[in-house]
Amino acid sequence: MLRFRTITPHDNEYRDVFDLREEILRKPLGLSLHNEDLSNEVSEHILVAEEEGNIVACLILTPGDGNMLQLRQMAVAEARQGQHIGRQLVEYAEQFAWNKGYEQIILHARMVAKGFYEKLGYVQQGGIFTEVNIPHIEMIKNKP
Ligand SMILES: CC(C)(COP(=O)(O)OP(=O)(O)OC[C@H]1O[C@@H](n2cnc3c(N)ncnc32)[C@H](O)[C@@H]1OP(=O)(O)O)[C@@H](O)C(=O)NCCC(=O)NCCS
Repeated sequence: MLRFRTITPHDNEYRDVFDLREEILRKPLGLSLHNEDLSNEVSEHILVAEEEGNIVACLILTPGDGNMLQLRQMAVAEARQGQHIGRQLVEYAEQFAWNKGYEQIILHARMVAKGFYEKLGYVQQGGIFTEVNIPHIEMIKNKP
């Protein structure tokens, strides 16, 4: 059974989240999280999908200006992609955000993931830019 919850960098599961992000989001680009400063993550919201003790998906919500949160580090374990776990985790993140009083979620989508976020109601804002060496677009969703 899938369970959605938040964790912090002090929890044991943070190591599993790190490994998932490294495997899905960094290694394919020839990059490593070991070269990034993750110290701010103590003040961010780390959301996970857990199944029988395994972290199968994660994302991070970073508080921005005003009532805005940035959704980043969205990753689903390779063997579990395409099974609506990403969709459920984003929906959980949205409820988390709206319940906390945030009114807008922004994200930097890789072009390959644009269709995923569009299905969830995110709308492109502005043009293409480069992050982690690959093309991205900014996408936005407002609290309904
Ligand atoms: C992109 C990713 C987060 C999507 O999560 P997922 O669990 O595989 O996707 P879901 O099964 O929840 O898909 C939800 C819907 O979006 C669609 N979708 C999923 N990935 C898509 C993609 N890359 N492009 C277009 N549509 C996509 C699905 O077909 C599904 O449509 P449906 O509801 O009509 O059936 C996941 O595949 C992943 O981790 N990919 C590699 C890392 C990555 O690209 N992260 C995003 C960085 S911005």
